[in-house]
Amino acid sequence: MTFTPDSELELIFDAKLIPQSVKEQLPEDLHIRPLASDDYTRGHLTVLSVLTKAPDVGLTSWQEQFRLLSSIPNTYYPLVIVSRSTDQIVAMGTLVMELKFLRGNAKAGHVEDIVVSSQAQGRGLGKKVIQALTGISESLGAYKVILDCSEENAPFYEKCGYKHAGVEMAKYAS
Ligand code: ACO
Repeated sequence: MTFTPDSELELIFDAKLIPQSVKEQLPEDLHIRPLASDDYTRGHLTVLSVLTKAPDVGLTSWQEQFRLLSSIPNTYYPLVIVSRSTDQIVAMGTLVMELKFLRGNAKAGHVEDIVVSSQAQGRGLGKKVIQALTGISESLGAYKVILDCSEENAPFYEKCGYKHAGVEMAKYAS
């Protein structure tokens, strides 16, 4: 599949928000950009399924979800790393911006759904995704960026400059 440049895609947020330093440090065969409206066809759900259940909802349903995220302004910042040789996604992650009343109407960034395809792990791509999302969060004015992860993945986030803070708790709907 031929690599599709950003100019031919409908991107979910302005690509200029991705720190230039991260773009420049990426291996030449890879490209980092915001999620695009046709990324369903670039293996988005296949890569996501390395993290957790991500069943194939079909193109129409996937695009409805893309439209829904796009319609909520200044909130969802999903990005992907794409292989220039295959035009397929190899890594991804999302920043969600939260508006608060505390600290003088502050903003907090939430890092979600970080995943690197099994074949591409160990090349520093996870770290690049985190650097990009953290940079976007800071440039949008968030006073902190937080995330939940397993104990197993904590050393990865420590390598990305994150520290243990509090305890994650969850109640899944039964
Ligand atoms: N334990 C210890 N160190 C690790 C681990 C780990 N599990 N994973 C990576 N590292 C280290 C690397 O050795 C590297 O160290 P270095 O900078 O000294 O060389 C550094 O962290 C960066 O590693 P990357 O190569 O960038 O990691 P990778 O691209 O493989 O991505 C990730 C890491 C995202 C955890 C990947 O393994 C993955 O997709 N796992 C499956 C899905 C998953 O668990 N995602 C995280 C969910 S939590 C969330 O989304 C908030």
